[in-house]
Amino acid sequence: MTSLKKVNIGICGLGTVGGGTFNVLTRNAELINSRSGSDIRIVQVGSRRTNPACDLSGVGVTDDIFEVAANPDVDVVVELVGGTSIAFELVLAAIENGKHVVTANKALIAQHGNEIFEAAHKKSVMVAFEAAVAGGIPIIKTLREGLGANRIEWLAGIINGTGNYILTAMEEQGRKFEDALEEAKALGYAEADPTFDVEGIDAAHKLVILASLAFGIPLQFDKVFTEGIGKLDLQDVAYARELGFRIKHLGIARQVGKGVEVRVHPTLIPANSLVAEVDGVMNAIMVKGDAVGPTMFYGAGAGDEPTASAVVADIIDVARALNCAPEARVPYLAFNTAEFSDTPVLPIEDVETAYYLRMRALDRPGVLTQVASIMSDRGISIEAIIQKRPQSGQDHVPLIMLTNKAREGELMAAARDVEKLDAIDGDVIHLRVEYLDR
Ligand code: HSE
Repeated sequence: MTSLKKVNIGICGLGTVGGGTFNVLTRNAELINSRSGSDIRIVQVGSRRTNPACDLSGVGVTDDIFEVAANPDVDVVVELVGGTSIAFELVLAAIENGKHVVTANKALIAQHGNEIFEAAHKKSVMVAFEAAVAGGIPIIKTLREGLGANRIEWLAGIINGTGNYILTAMEEQGRKFEDALEEAKALGYAEADPTFDVEGIDAAHKLVILASLAFGIPLQFDKVFTEGIGKLDLQDVAYARELGFRIKHLGIARQVGKGVEVRVHPTLIPANSLVAEVDGVMNAIMVKGDAVGPTMFYGAGAGDEPTASAVVADIIDVARALNCAPEARVPYLAFNTAEFSDTPVLPIEDVETAYYLRMRALDRPGVLTQVASIMSDRGISIEAIIQKRPQSGQDHVPLIMLTNKAREGELMAAARDVEKLDAIDGDVIHLRVEYLDR
């Protein structure tokens, strides 16, 4: 029997994902080695803290992660430290030392990926980041390889497990926002700074990576339109239900005539669509390709071993590709850099979608006509209206509308005009509606 080629791994960071990766690699070593055709071994762990879930006996441990990046025995540095400062330095140091890198760090790739890939290209090393998007779902491999034949028209998905966990707990169990967030933190789903989850920043990190893979554009995190679930009002969740929709926090990237839409926000989707059924920490991404049509990918978007599943798959890929000439490897972002397109990411004003509007209107004749006329002057057509009965002692009533597709700039201008009407009290709340059917 020929001996397997040794591939030595150094894991940096032994938190939720680091611990999961250590345990999956150790537990499934035999089958991982059979699949990769290599003898993959963890030779060093860099972490300031131990993880009680991991048996580190026989493995070198250091509290200095840069020692791992410099260790001549390490072939692949697995960066599971998180954040964008030390992790960035670590990854650049590992690359400089000729190590391949596997990372689960979406913030790092979204913000510094272009630079990291350039450095890796110069050193002919691989950088793999499957775990950066949607935890255990192999969506990066899918876009980069499985759907390689397709012109991607759009993709849309639930790509933050914590946000979906909180929304589901609030909607289905009537739980309080803060309690649900605490639970997501305790389960290891939330980011070190959970405002990243709540404000949609984590989803934006992931979406920018998906948009780049889908459309062959450079990573442009600063151009993503981002709204979180923090300001979502439960009355809108209830009205959406009445209209046949559920509200999910989606990342959406779409190629349109003038450019690419890349946006993250709470979205009304038809209650009978598959994505509307995705609850808790689960993620789901729909991808529409011109050849394959609509596809959907579903799985756990966060958590120790689901995320480790993706990290270890990358380690296997790196081990398999070690003997492959650099130019024959799959490009980091699916397209060769020289082929990147300069298609612009559109500002939110130029995005076209349907809308849900809610306002408080005086309960008197003619108000609806005034609102409808402002909308129609801007070419916005109203598809459905609900007006609630006034509650005792109140002279304003909630007025809820669904519009057809409109340009966001036009919709916002109409909303500002509606807010100026004497009969309207306060702001016009607007949420975007997607049918995910074309
Ligand atoms: N905080 C992230 C989430 C972890 O909740 O989806 C996985 O990226």
